[in-house]
Amino acid sequence: MTTVLTGIKPTGTPHIGNYLGAIKPALALAEAHDARYFIADYHALTTVRDAATLRDLSYQVAATWLACGLDPERVIFYRQSDVPETFELTWVLSCFAGKGWLNRAHAYKAAVDANVAAGMDPDDGVTMGLFNYPVLMAADILLFDTDRVPVGRDQQQHLEITRDIAAAFNHVYGDVLRLPEAVIPEGEATITGLDGRKMSKSYDNTINIFAPPKQLRKQVMRIVTDSRTPDDPKDPDACNIYAIYRYFAEPDALASVREAYLNGGLAYGAMKQTLFETLDAAFAPARERYNALMADTDRLDAILMDGAARARTIAAEVLGRVRSAVGTAFTHPVERTS
Ligand code: ADP
Ligand code: TRP
Repeated sequence: MTTVLTGIKPTGTPHIGNYLGAIKPALALAEAHDARYFIADYHALTTVRDAATLRDLSYQVAATWLACGLDPERVIFYRQSDVPETFELTWVLSCFAGKGWLNRAHAYKAAVDANVAAGMDPDDGVTMGLFNYPVLMAADILLFDTDRVPVGRDQQQHLEITRDIAAAFNHVYGDVLRLPEAVIPEGEATITGLDGRKMSKSYDNTINIFAPPKQLRKQVMRIVTDSRTPDDPKDPDACNIYAIYRYFAEPDALASVREAYLNGGLAYGAMKQTLFETLDAAFAPARERYNALMADTDRLDAILMDGAARARTIAAEVLGRVRSAVGTAFTHPVERTS
């Protein structure tokens, strides 16, 4: 069976853009593949600089995926920081990663370009963590003989760098590392936020998956609309409420709402209430599971530690191959399985 792997950076409270764009498709993929999904907490350290926040966001992300249906018996689900083999492989891979490749990686390049534009030193505020980010990501992937990596389009370059690093390593040592492929969702499934831009925590325009009903309602009421009166006919495809509603409505309800937009007689306030009720109903059962998990972080830790133990068995095997290829110690603290 092919293996799929993806990392989730715990940098914000999960929103419905994350749900539709990442969580839902990844859970579907896990039905038919050997899936390894992990919380990329050390990647988040490039931006999250507060221990309590990083810990809490890691739990939030873990609880969200579990509440949305991730089955930790089937999917190997773990925290990156619980798999120390990752960081040893990161060093080995950094010896094969061309510095020029990393100079061109988009996050680093964007930071440098912004500094230059502001007349500052090009590397002002740039850490080696930001620069090496793609190498750590390559280690996450290559450590598990991954075939496919579901990611957003913005991560495609990181997958190309991963393949380049693996190929450079294999060029010297033979067929040791498996080259992964990115799986990028077809079409433009970008979910718009409250203000009509892409829903993103950076724009403060999100609807959080598990906001308590009162807060959920508040977020929905903030959706920006034009000033048409209830009687005016409206274009549903230009409406920020409809843009979200269409992903959650039953087909019949959607069709009649669409008609009301086109014919007039639909008030934005009422439509927001409908969206709120639809989202509230859609997420209520999962929200209960989420709240129960967040109230029992020992249970979350136990699930993640069990995942890490299973992940490390695979990691030790792959790292053993790498060590033996490069000529460092053949054995490893975690027993090799073969
Ligand atoms: P944010 O933009 O809030 O910072 P991230 O960049 O952390 O979100 O995205 C995490 C995952 O969720 C990625 O796989 C990304 O493609 C997906 N995602 C984020 N926002 C959206 C959106 N508005 N529509 C569709 N998918 C999204
Ligand atoms: N860089 C990814 C992001 O920002 C997160 C990530 C870390 C990842 N390691 C990974 C994704 C390995 C896929 C595979 O979303």
